[in-house]
Parts: sequence; C-alpha cells; structure tokens
Amino acid sequence: MHRFHGATAVVTGGASGIGAAVVQRLAEEGAAVVAVDRDEARGAALARSLTGRGRRVDFRLADVADEASVARLARGLADAGPAIDVIVNNAGIVRRSSIDDLTEQDWSLQLAVNLKAPLLVTRALSGMLRVRGGAVVNVSSEGAFRPRPLHAAYDVSKAGVGALTRAMAAEYAEFGIRVNAVAPGWIVTEMHFAAAEDPASRRREMEALDHDGCLMRRLGRPDEVAAVIAFLASSDASYLTATTVHVDGGQGLG
Ligand code: NAI
Repeated sequence: MHRFHGATAVVTGGASGIGAAVVQRLAEEGAAVVAVDRDEARGAALARSLTGRGRRVDFRLADVADEASVARLARGLADAGPAIDVIVNNAGIVRRSSIDDLTEQDWSLQLAVNLKAPLLVTRALSGMLRVRGGAVVNVSSEGAFRPRPLHAAYDVSKAGVGALTRAMAAEYAEFGIRVNAVAPGWIVTEMHFAAAEDPASRRREMEALDHDGCLMRRLGRPDEVAAVIAFLASSDASYLTATTVHVDGGQGLG
C-alpha cells in the first residue's frame, strides 16, 4: 500500500514504541515523515536506519510540552516545506501513583505531555495542515475509559485527549481536516519494559503474557496500533472524524 505518497507526516514521540512503529509504517507507505522526540540519540538512530532502507525520515528534537520548543519546531518545519498532511500526537508519559500520594509535579507533567502537547503541536502546525487539508490522530488510552488504581493523572489526561479530539474535529472540519484518536490497550513498548532490570527479558515476558483482561488474551504490538493510526490518517478514513478507535484486543470483555 502507498496511501501516503507525496504526503508529509509529523509524528511526536516518534523515537520509541508506538511512535517509532507509526514513523516506519507511514514511511513505508510513501510519506516523508518527521519524527519528533526529546530523545535525540534514539530518534536520530531510527531516522538513520530507515533512511538507509530508502525511506524518507527526518528527526527533529523538541519537547512537545514546551510552547517555545514547539514554536521552534514549527519554524523549522515551515522552512522545510509549505504543507503538512498528517499529524500524529503520540508522545506520552506515565507516572504511577495512588491519588493520595500523587504529587502536584507528577499531575502537571502528565497533563502537560499527554494533553497540552497535542494542543500545542496541532495549533502550531495547523496553518501548514490547512494548505491541502489532512488528518490529525491523537493517542488516548483504554485507561481513559475504565476505572483502575494508580493512574489518576494519566487516565484524566487521556480522557482529555478524547474531548480535545472532538473539539479539534469540530473546529477544523471546515478546513478539510479530520481529527480522530486511538485508545490502545496494553501494548508491549519501552514505556513498560525500558526501566526493568532486564528490559529484554521483561519484553519477552510481556509478549508471552496470557492477558485475561481482553478477549484476545495477549498484549498488543506497536505495529498493530500503527496500522490503525495509518488507516485513520489515510483517505480510507475519509468520512471518519471526532471518533476514538479502541485498539485493545477486546479489553474488558474477556
Ligand atoms: P514509549 O515510552 O515507548 O514512547 C514515548 C515516546 O515519547 C518516547 O520516545 C519519549 O521520548 C517521547 N516523549 C515523551 N515525552 C516527550 C516530550 N515532552 N517531548 C517529546 N517527546 C516526548 O511509549 P509508548 O508505549 O510507545 O506510548 C506512545 C503513546 O501511546 C503514549 O501517548 C502512551 O500514553 C500511549 N499508550 C501506550 C500504551 C501502552 O501500553 N504502551 C497504552 C495506551 C496508550
């Protein structure tokens, strides 16, 4: 499939996990992809490896939760070309804590990266998105939809992503811009295994886990979320906007 031939896509949090899989998928489908991340070493290495395989991938360093950094990113992208066709707001962080122990700093940090950043990035790039019309895909989470302990700030931020997605869809429809979200279930990414004592073995454990929280009884892979994001960003989803697609193997139904 080459649904993004001639298109330019910006993917935040593109250095790792789901974001890296989205960068790869959109590039394989013909897009010129800008991977944005605060992890320069990892992001630049991914861009080099994909470029070496004939894909068009550029890395840009930015902290998407910081308005000045996003403004610098937007200026740099405007110098590179007039139009953007796809924005994937994927960068995210999680800090587990009970409500009683949740610090103001951890609350603010998760709200800033997970919820404020999609607003900052989309509006900073919306002028370039309006040139040809296009699509925004925001990354929410199943946590936004189900009660669970230790994730209050994260789940509130991801519920906000759903509301922000609908608000953006309403405001940008007249410019030919569709805005949707995905809500992934439990996906095997660095978010879960990078901090483990032995990340490779934790990753293998996760891949083999009998996950009784979902019908498919396994965790998801980043490429399985990337495929749905690519669909939402493509013209195959031309009559879809303001919706959230659950990519979770049937979570809560098992
Ligand atoms: P990850 O930790 O593998 O990747 C996140 C990337 O975002 C990293 O490369 C990180 O450097 C980047 N990032 C974080 N803060 C940033 C900032 N301020 N500026 C620029 N880049 C920043 O995580 P994963 O799992 O790939 O997560 C991607 C998205 O999917 C996140 O929004 C996450 O909340 C969401 N998600 C993940 C699930 C999972 O089970 N892995 C489940 C549901 C949602």
